Formats: sequence, C-alpha cells, structure tokens
Amino acid sequence: MCGIVGGIAQRNVVPILLEGLKRLEYRGYDSAGLAVISNQQIYRKRELGKVKGLEALLEADPISGNIGIAHTRWATHGKPSTANAHPHICRNKVAVVHNGIIENHEHLREVQLKQGYEFTSETDTEVIVHEIHHAMESTDGLLSAVKQAVKKLDGAYALGIMSIDSPDILIACRKGSPLVIGVGIGEYFIASDVAALLPVTQRFIFLEDGDIAAITIDGLVIYDRDDQAVSRPIIESQLTADAVDKGDYRHYMLKEIYEQPFAISQALEGRFINNRLQENAFGHNAAEVFDNIKAIQILACGTSYHAGMVARYWFEELARVPCNIEVASEFRYRSPVLAPDTLIVTISQSGETADTLAALLEAKKLGAKYSLAICNVPESSLVRESDLVLMTRAGPEIGVASTKAFTTQLATLMLLVIAIGRRFHLTEIVEQKITSELFSLPGKIEKVLQLDDEIKVLAEQFAEKQHALFLGRGTHYPIAMEGALKLKEISYIHAEAYPAGELKHGPLALIDADMPVVTVAPNNSLLEKLKSNIQEVSARGGQLIVFMDETLASANDENVRIVKVPQVGNEISPIVYTIPLQLLAYHVAVLKGTDVDQPRNLAKSVTVE
Ligand code: AGP
Repeated sequence: MCGIVGGIAQRNVVPILLEGLKRLEYRGYDSAGLAVISNQQIYRKRELGKVKGLEALLEADPISGNIGIAHTRWATHGKPSTANAHPHICRNKVAVVHNGIIENHEHLREVQLKQGYEFTSETDTEVIVHEIHHAMESTDGLLSAVKQAVKKLDGAYALGIMSIDSPDILIACRKGSPLVIGVGIGEYFIASDVAALLPVTQRFIFLEDGDIAAITIDGLVIYDRDDQAVSRPIIESQLTADAVDKGDYRHYMLKEIYEQPFAISQALEGRFINNRLQENAFGHNAAEVFDNIKAIQILACGTSYHAGMVARYWFEELARVPCNIEVASEFRYRSPVLAPDTLIVTISQSGETADTLAALLEAKKLGAKYSLAICNVPESSLVRESDLVLMTRAGPEIGVASTKAFTTQLATLMLLVIAIGRRFHLTEIVEQKITSELFSLPGKIEKVLQLDDEIKVLAEQFAEKQHALFLGRGTHYPIAMEGALKLKEISYIHAEAYPAGELKHGPLALIDADMPVVTVAPNNSLLEKLKSNIQEVSARGGQLIVFMDETLASANDENVRIVKVPQVGNEISPIVYTIPLQLLAYHVAVLKGTDVDQPRNLAKSVTVE
C-alpha cells in the first residue's frame, strides 16, 4: 500500500527520501515520486514502476532541497500512471503525498471545479492539495490551512504537506492511516513506518488519529483532534537499519522462511516460568479479563484469518470454549450478534489492516467489553486499540507473502488457548503436553527446512500448471488454505483449498492429470479418512503430492508422490506442516520468475478498504 517519506533538515534530503522509498518497497506499489522545495520553487520527479526508475530519473536530472516529500503509490483511484503518481501539486504552491482514501472526493472535486481548480490526475488525493490551497487564501498560513482543509475530508489519510509560502515547515497528519515522525539531531523525517527511516534515526514519535504536526528543524508542535497542543512520547526503536537486510538470501521471503525456528523461540521466550505460561504476558489485567469471558470471536484477514481458523479448532477442541471466526471485512458490515462476555481476538501482522481495525471498532460498538490483539508491530493502531496484547515477536517481515508472521501467530494463539483453556476444560496434563510440544517446535522446523532441496525439485511439476488443489482436514484444512494462498500470491497459479471430505461434493470434477493436488496428511485421527480421499483423487488420474508423517509414509501408487515430514505432536503439527507449503510456493514462484517479495497488485500493509 502507499508509502510516505518526508524530511526537513540542514542537508539535502533527496538521498534520504530515496532510501526511505526503497525501504517501503515491500508494502507494494506501482509508481513513485518525490518533490523538494528549493529557491522558492517546488521541483518534482515522478515515474511509473519501481523506485529505481525514479532514481535513474534523478540521476539524469538531479534536484535537491532541505525539505521534501516522497511517495510510493498503490493505485486505488485512477490507474497506475505518472500523472496519478504523488506528490500532487496545486498551482506550484502546495505539494501533498497521501496514503488512504478520501471517500467524498467526488463531491469535493465538483466544488473545486466550480472554484476554478484544474485537475491533472484521476486520484482522490488531488482534492486534498486543492482544498489546502483554497484554505490558504483565507487563513494565516499553511498550518491553519491544513487544519481547516482536513475538516472537509471524509475517509482515511496520512499526509505529508509542504508549501513554498512556508518553506521551513513540513506538515504531517494522520487519520486512519499510519504515520511516524523520525527524530534526528536538528532534523526530522516522516514515514509510513519506521523501517523507512532506520538509516537516519531510531527515535520515533507515533502520531495518533487526528494529530496534525507542524515540523521545523528547530522542533515540532503536535495538535490533537481537538486542536490542543499535545506532547507525544519519543520511542526508541529496537530495530536497526540492517534488521531489514536480505543477508545472503535471494529473497526476503526465503530469509523469513528460514528465520522461523528463531522467530518461534522468540515468541515463547520469557513467557513461561518453570514450564508454566505466565498470564501477565498478555497484559497486567489479563487474568481478570480471562476470568470473565464466555466465548471468543476472532477477526482477521488473509493469512492472519487462516491462523485464526486453526485457533478456532484449538479453542473448541482443547478448551471447549465457544469460538467464532470471521473475515474482518465481512464482520464490519454484517450486523453480527455478539454473545455477552465475548473476547474479541484480532490477528494482524501489521496491526494496520483497515478492515481488521474497523471490525474491532464495530465489535466495541456492538458492546464487546474485552479485546485482545495478536500482532507483530508493537506501535501499531491495532495494539493501541486493544485491551490486551500478545506480540508475536516475528521481527520485521518484508516479503508480502506472510511466512514467519503466520507461524508465530499460531504459536502465540496456542498460548492464548492455554490461558483461556485453563478456565474451561484444558487439563494440567494436556497443558504440559502442549507446552513441551511448543518448545520442541524450533527443532522440528529446522528438520523440515532440510526438505528444501526435495521440494525444489517437486516445484518443477508446478511451474507449467494453471491450477492446483490443496486438501487438508481438521486443523490442517486452514493450513491447506494457507498453502493455496501462498501459491497464488507469489506464483499467480490459481489454487484452491478444500476440506478433503468436501471433494466428492463438487471439486472432484476438476481432477485430471493437469491438476496437481497437494495434500497435508499428518498422523492424526483423520488420517484414514484422508487416505480414502487420496484414493478418490488417484483413481481419477489426479497427481498427488502428499506431505505425510515420516513414520507412516508409504505409497505404491504411481499417482502419489510422498514427502516425509518429521514426526510431530498433534497439537503443533499445523505449524510444522505449514513450512513445506511455504517452500513449495517459493520455489514455484522462483521457477516462474515472478517478483517473489513484491507480487503484482498486492500490498504488505492493507491500510485501505
Ligand atoms: C499474506 O501472505 C497476505 N499478504 C495477506 O493475506 C495478509 O495476511 C493480510 O492482508 C492481513 O494482513 P495483516 O496480518 O497485516 O493484518
């Protein structure tokens, strides 16, 4: 999704803005642009495609300045094009970069056309820059104009704004979309997330919804939604500039797949004393909240939704606590009915997913008293909106396709199942069994990663295929869904997942030699039933790849290719069986030559509806 970088300094900010844009590339985008003020003029460069194209443009025709704003655009209103790329400028006086969607842009456009403003793009953003320009004519400066203009905007925005009338002020504001201020020594920067600014600072101010900041090199003033000057804390980030480096890996995604043993050990670290989960890991009043809840409602999108689906099986099977799950974008508009004392559990890697945030707010409106976020970004909006929080501690995830974020979500969700399950039907013996399985996870995943070469060879069968089916049962049905999502996201092969028992109710009609069928077959009570489903496919000429427990693996069927997965405890096996599916998707994408880390049309952080 769109990325914003800006800066005000005593040095030329262009190289810093460019580096910041590169560090935001992972969010997904289709064009990039940058503008500076120099000698009472706004200079702008924009380019369709990658940041390196913009960089080449700047090398050929350099611009420089002590104040500037830059942007990577992920098209929502208007196709990807240079004209639609940000910054947008009004009458050579004001320049704006924007992340979010202005919902009343059509109405504002009509009014502004009557006021004589000309439009050079199809974006919703252009109304913002005209509105600010218009307000400047009746106010005493840029800050007052911005305050007046944003009152007219409906929707979500993070904005970076500058004007030749006040070339020593950079304005940053946010409502609904994230924006941070990086605090340097005698210089300030703004960005959509901290990763963009790590080479210049590790000190950040996280703007709150409705904040407007007026930033000069001497300091900054932040006004809250009630126009009161407020002080926001400066937070020291633990991340370093190289925390988001690819190292020796060809892609971030591969690096992140291999980081999973460490990420999971981090997710468990310090949360147990004498092998007993400490409930204060969820927040100081967690025990009190858990004592009161009678049901769980999980809300999430995409991969995080799949993690929630696995958790629902766990909550109901292990803890016997009623649990619902819904895709956040549906929940927020469905008029759902929440049972009293329901704990709302949101799951999100970024903590900025607009639909998940809105669903949480909707649940609160419906009377939900308790909320808990499973999240990877401590300073995110979701974390701030939730009563309780359990951080996944996966570390920065750059590849658009979630990998370590997913498996750490599962590990932390299991901690939640334990904490809540204790109050329901989870016995001490089962809790201890799950705990020791959790601690065995890093070692098990290390072993599964050794399947990499075998899976790489298997991937060759897929590269020419148009479609694939993924099958699983029980907790492994959502894992099949996650495998299918990974494959379609990065290889662009159409992939669908089904609970294997559902095959004969329709999808069996698709089976032929051109339809690879990937099956997740751990050693559990559903294995015999799954074997029957495998037979149904094989009998119809389907080509199966079956990820199966090493102790059971055997097949005399030429249509069935078995990959032996190390033996693993029942409860954690969905986490372990995820890894080979991630590797499969990765290798297929590499063979197909797609942009693995930044697949087409997708964004890492989906901050608009
Ligand atoms: C995962 O591979 C996807 N990129 C996507 O489905 C993602 O999980 C979804 O957009 C939700 O994001 P979140 O976890 O940051 O809320």
